[in-house]
Amino acid sequence: MRQKIITDVDTGIDDALALLYLLASPEAEIVGIASTAGNVPAPQVAANNLALLDLCRAPDIEVALGVESPLAIPLRTTEDTHGPQGIGYAEFPPSARTLSDRSAARLWVDLARAHPGEIIGLCTGPLTNLALALRLEPQLPQLLRRLVVMGGAFQRPGNTTPTNEWNVHVDPEAWKEVFDAFAAAPADRRPLVCGLDITETIEMYPEHVVRLAERAESVPVEHLSESDTRGVRSQAGNPVVRFVTDAVRFYFEFHRDHGQPYLAHMHDPFAAALALDPTLAVTRPATVDVELGGTLTRGATIADWAGMWGREPNADIAIGTDPPAFFDRLVERVGDFARNAYPPA
Ligand code: BDR
Ligand code: CA
Repeated sequence: MRQKIITDVDTGIDDALALLYLLASPEAEIVGIASTAGNVPAPQVAANNLALLDLCRAPDIEVALGVESPLAIPLRTTEDTHGPQGIGYAEFPPSARTLSDRSAARLWVDLARAHPGEIIGLCTGPLTNLALALRLEPQLPQLLRRLVVMGGAFQRPGNTTPTNEWNVHVDPEAWKEVFDAFAAAPADRRPLVCGLDITETIEMYPEHVVRLAERAESVPVEHLSESDTRGVRSQAGNPVVRFVTDAVRFYFEFHRDHGQPYLAHMHDPFAAALALDPTLAVTRPATVDVELGGTLTRGATIADWAGMWGREPNADIAIGTDPPAFFDRLVERVGDFARNAYPPA
């Protein structure tokens, strides 16, 4: 039996690759996609999700729209990181698929109640909709089989402010509500948290794009380079490889523009891989809380590793992994998927 997954995304270049990873994983069954405002506004996220399903020739999968704004503050988006539509230099035609008539929060609650103990939740964006779902159904931590979230920075600087990781920065109140709600969960239901400490070790390089194209038997095989004309579009014959190449080129350029090598951190696909196989990471329990006051640190995620607060752990934080093993899996799965979706002539 395939593993049921709800994925809550703010698609997003790396969110798109996370969805691709799940669609390419035979053991996964995506039962619903929640579209959360974050990298781009929620309607754009939803449009991206529907169009990605078209690109992948996927069967009907429910895509639900999330609320417009974070719980307590106005929405901030980041088109400079993810491109005008959130998918880098890639462009999707509008999809003929339709959005669900239930909200993203409702999707979480209804599916978790319908399949108690069976569903893995994967969140790769702000937790706005999950927090709203928890208000509707406080038993969600007990109803889900597992929750994996990408967000936070624990012993590492933030990527949005000196202390804040983006997904938490967008909606700190939501993250606090989720961590608080999981304080009551048994140890085996604690959320598995992929913060920047781990996801910034997941470095994608042009070589990975080459390997993906080769695996998919897509021609020409393109070697992206920082000396290329900015924004030059992919000529890859395989549409999935072409999409990944155009999306990731933007992310490479963004990282390069911000003082890093020509690479991209694959935060969200790593979280997706962990959702299906938690053995990919070493984890450590901690009590996590979110700073909501603070003049400089609002939105910071604080981990109490040693129980100094006298509160039970409410999270398992990923602290170690094998990035090459992850990329082998990504290349194999997405490459094979791309080749099967669009067999070479
Ligand atoms: C997170 O922020 C977003 O921009 C990415 O999609 C990822 O989920 C990394 O901080
Ligand atoms: Ca994301």
